[in-house]
Amino acid sequence: MQENLFRTKFPAALTVVLLMTILTGCGGAEDRQIVRIGHNQAEDHPTNLGLKAFEEWIEEELGETYDVEIYPSELLGSQTDMIQLTQTGAIDFCVASNSILETFSDDYTLFNLPYLFGSQEAYHAAMDDPDVTEDIFRSTREAGFEAVTWLDAGTRNFYTVGKAILSPADLKGLKIRVQQSPTNVEMMRLLGGSATPMGFGEVYTSLQSGVIDGAENNELALTSNGHGDVCKHFSYDMHQMIPDLLIGNCAFLDGLSETEREIFEEGFRLVNEVQRYRWAGAVEAARKRASEVQGVQFYYPDVEPFREICVPMHRTLLETDPELQSIYDRIMEYNALYRGDEEEGR
Ligand code: GCU
Repeated sequence: MQENLFRTKFPAALTVVLLMTILTGCGGAEDRQIVRIGHNQAEDHPTNLGLKAFEEWIEEELGETYDVEIYPSELLGSQTDMIQLTQTGAIDFCVASNSILETFSDDYTLFNLPYLFGSQEAYHAAMDDPDVTEDIFRSTREAGFEAVTWLDAGTRNFYTVGKAILSPADLKGLKIRVQQSPTNVEMMRLLGGSATPMGFGEVYTSLQSGVIDGAENNELALTSNGHGDVCKHFSYDMHQMIPDLLIGNCAFLDGLSETEREIFEEGFRLVNEVQRYRWAGAVEAARKRASEVQGVQFYYPDVEPFREICVPMHRTLLETDPELQSIYDRIMEYNALYRGDEEEGR
């Protein structure tokens, strides 16, 4: 939380100074090429732990050539800023929410659909299947970057300062922060709330100052980002499972030799594996801390009324972009294979 508060108070100036230092201080006499990776989570977040494993692996295998540097906590700016830095090659990789990528390639809209994945198992199996992800991950190559692996970001749920959200009607008249994506804005419109798109780093102060009445995210936002200090009602309506993506600059990736690329690919698998392994424990710890220390109450509303309102968005997307139909069908096959039970993941 401290990092995010820090970032909120000194955003632009801090980022510019840091960025100039980082991009101009290229390691002095060092011959090694610096591989810069930015993300917006805290240092003890599973995403940072996954990237640390990647750093160790690359430096163990290719340490004479590459020096991996990780910049957590929005030190290099918001996700949108970091995507742009990755596009131009100012940095080599960053972690971006699938939501934000929707504005770079329409294909990413698919994974942002509310109630797309029927269970956590179906979500993981689908995201692990190259037939589901490959074309979409490569769909931004013309924009200068591509996704190299995905990271679990759990399920997204509403949490609020005032009353709990137990049905869509409770959202009426509330200003809820959403990520900057047309799908999320449309979802909130359908559910009856008022969508307030903004970057992750701005959410804490916006909640505190009353600019917004609530937000939606996974449990770690309560603790790691401090939102549970202000929001005491967290409702498991489970409206989305939105992956994060590790994206890389294409010129950097294409410039790797075949052997280097294989080692990097192994590293990408490692990020996914370590992050996912750490995720379950981190969610459990966040729930415990939110409930015992921050006094957050967890609610388990009937998900069906939320789902019914949102599901027509699936058809609308497939009518607009029929090429996504076969990937969508494959995801539905995973949903049929791994049917979740009511209580799963909450
Ligand atoms: C999650 C997700 C981040 C995203 C954030 C948000 O924490 O992992 O990638 O930035 O939600 O709501 O903006």
